[in-house]
Amino acid sequence: MLWPETTKRNKAGELAIGGVSVVELAEQFGTPLYIFDEVTLCNRARRAVASAMAGGPGSRAVFASKALELPVILSLLASEGLGIDVVSGGELFVALESGIDPHVITFHGNNKSRRELQEAIDAGIELIAVDNLYELDLLDALTRERREPVSVLLRVNPGIDVHTHEKIATGVLDSKFGFPLWNDDAATAVRRALEIPGIRVRGLHCHLGSQLFDVRAAELAVERVIAFAAEMRRLYGLDVQIVSPGGGMGIAYVDGMTEMDITEWMGATADALERACALARIPHPSLVFEPGRWIAGPAGVALYRVGSRRDIDGVRSYVSVDGGMADNIRPALYDAVYTAELANRTGGGERETVTIAGKYCESGDVLIRDIELPRLNPGDLLAVPAAGAYCIPMASNYNLALKPAVVLVAEGAAKLIRRRETYDDLLALDLLPAVN
Ligand code: LLP
Repeated sequence: MLWPETTKRNKAGELAIGGVSVVELAEQFGTPLYIFDEVTLCNRARRAVASAMAGGPGSRAVFASKALELPVILSLLASEGLGIDVVSGGELFVALESGIDPHVITFHGNNKSRRELQEAIDAGIELIAVDNLYELDLLDALTRERREPVSVLLRVNPGIDVHTHEKIATGVLDSKFGFPLWNDDAATAVRRALEIPGIRVRGLHCHLGSQLFDVRAAELAVERVIAFAAEMRRLYGLDVQIVSPGGGMGIAYVDGMTEMDITEWMGATADALERACALARIPHPSLVFEPGRWIAGPAGVALYRVGSRRDIDGVRSYVSVDGGMADNIRPALYDAVYTAELANRTGGGERETVTIAGKYCESGDVLIRDIELPRLNPGDLLAVPAAGAYCIPMASNYNLALKPAVVLVAEGAAKLIRRRETYDDLLALDLLPAVN
């Protein structure tokens, strides 16, 4: 699925999402604008929640809020039954302020500070995924006086080479994340964790990477994690109640790509878990999946207004839009591919191949290279699908761009869920020089 489920062309030939014409949205809220479709978000959340049950009792899905950390959307996803995972004090704060029940929050990250750990403990969140011995030492110190132990998962690195961009592969040999399973590090962590009276090790976590399509990698990860769990049970009596195989399910960004079937992914992982537990003769832990991109990505569309153009004879035609790398860094950072459609009219007739550039002062600020579109004119609207994950959260103020507004659309109505930044916001943190 490339576009939100409710995407249509109305009689005037305008793209409409959630029953609202993007032409109206652009007039009312300006551009660049990020549009989220409530139906798509809810349906995908429900599918993830239902599919996770394949893992048996206690199994569930949590949304990786780094993919999209908007309060209204976090609250919506939680109301559909998703837990929330956070990776910083900031994400924890926003999740709590959004009304998320601390009992469904997991805290990740490879360098949690003392303060962040304290905040997580004080909030009474469900699980802290411990990444390293430094964090175990901090937790030891922070939990000394507690009566109730703090529940933790230990993050392990199964050393699996996944086929994705190297900057978003995390479970490979050369990674900063998690205790390696191929040497003694993970066993050392288990021994150390079991000595700490203030924590209770509930299970093991791993995350292989993002934008993945190879179910076999997830199966292999579970096999390795369970083999390790069995050994730790035999050696130290570790009781692994939860295995979290992370997120990573891939989505379609351009025509011709097919998204990962989340039911298949979760089902295959659950089957692998069952087989591995039977083989190792250990009790069957529950599974906690952590999809981020899969939930939010296809629900969001970025809407830009076309401005200038530069035709370089025999080389390339650049058409510039009013956003770019400040609201979507992914093409510049990961060579991510996107597609677009002319959104304010159908634009039959002449088509041409153009490169869609952003408006920022970098040659690398290109959103889409060589795309065939109807002839674009200044003022046209261009809609980019699959922009719901990792665009808004990674947006910057480069060139002092104003971060875009975000709307949620449903049943013919649009709700502003994040206002556009203003020039005043740009100075909110600064001390102005004294004017004489
Ligand atoms: N769980 C953990 C521990 C993670 O580190 C991540 C993502 C997820 C779950 C969710 O992964 P997803 O289902 O969204 O693939 N900025 C990059 C993606 C970075 C992902 C980092 N970790 C991008 O724009 O592609």
